[in-house]
Amino acid sequence: MKDLLNLLKDLSEAPGPTGFEGPVRSIMRRNLEPLSDRIETDGIGSLICRRAGMSTSPKIMMSAHMDEVGLMVRYVTSEGFVKFQTLGGWLDQALIGQRWQILTTEGPVNGITGIKTPHVMSGDERAKVFKKESIFLDIGASDKEDAEQRLGVKPGDPIAPTSTFERLNDGHLLLGKAWDDRAGLAVMAGVMESLKETDLPCELFAVSTVQEEVGLRGAHTSSNLVKPDLGINLESGVAGDYPGISEYEAQEKLGAGPAVFLHDSSMLPNLKLRDLVSKTASESNIPLQYNVLSGYGEDGAEIQKSEGGTPVINITVPTRYLHSHNSLIDYRDVEHAIDLVSSLVQKLDDETVNEIAKFD
Ligand code: CO
Repeated sequence: MKDLLNLLKDLSEAPGPTGFEGPVRSIMRRNLEPLSDRIETDGIGSLICRRAGMSTSPKIMMSAHMDEVGLMVRYVTSEGFVKFQTLGGWLDQALIGQRWQILTTEGPVNGITGIKTPHVMSGDERAKVFKKESIFLDIGASDKEDAEQRLGVKPGDPIAPTSTFERLNDGHLLLGKAWDDRAGLAVMAGVMESLKETDLPCELFAVSTVQEEVGLRGAHTSSNLVKPDLGINLESGVAGDYPGISEYEAQEKLGAGPAVFLHDSSMLPNLKLRDLVSKTASESNIPLQYNVLSGYGEDGAEIQKSEGGTPVINITVPTRYLHSHNSLIDYRDVEHAIDLVSSLVQKLDDETVNEIAKFD
């Protein structure tokens, strides 16, 4: 895909905590509008782009989520510090010592989560984890009135992590926030672009969902609208290729191709679809990995449970250090995922999808 690195940079740097996906939706709309026949949104903000094929059946739904883990203002203390609610799964350790942006109706307000200086800590205190309930944002306000009146900070305002994109030491790895799931959105945009001149045997939907990190909500509402015959969810996977994580916990490696989830706590894939993905990868010489996770939930689960039940697969871009300010992907895995899903979609005609959905 041309401009893949620019798209990845734009997506990673865009603020989009759960419930505040507007900036990401604008990027997806701008990129997908020229490649779609019809664009609509569902009732909570998921962006549904339709690409007509030679037939209106089967309906194939690709999905990737726009929201990132973030925070929300709970209240401002009388001294002008901001207490927050987490949006999505944060480790308490990952919250501290970071830069953030509060997205107020008047514009962004920068803040930091500071940590008490070690100079005044006891030995016990130095060894402990600071709980999120005790953490606050310092926005340089003199008191509550200054924070609310001059800076315009209100309860309910979303708070996004601040982190700039870079290509790490000129290698293949891309450093940035929110690869979960901006990597999946880039794959979806790449598939739409690579298929733009191709006559499709199906009707193809590229759905950018909202509110995944708080319970797969946009996937639920959008799949009710699309009513897909088959789903391909595109996610950031869990790499297990760095110190302190075991193969038992996660098997994906950066640079070794996209992965298929064989198990996560929300979904089991359709096995015929799993085998078609494997066959497609090997025919096209695309490297493919597998992962089995005990935890993790993803949008594919909602597509799977929609209507009377739908065949779904979750295909991922392996990612290190998810749900933090600094995560890593390998852009070659993004390119391979685009190639894999593009080849797969071209095989999904009525006969193939009916066979996948058939149980004897
Ligand atoms: Co995700």
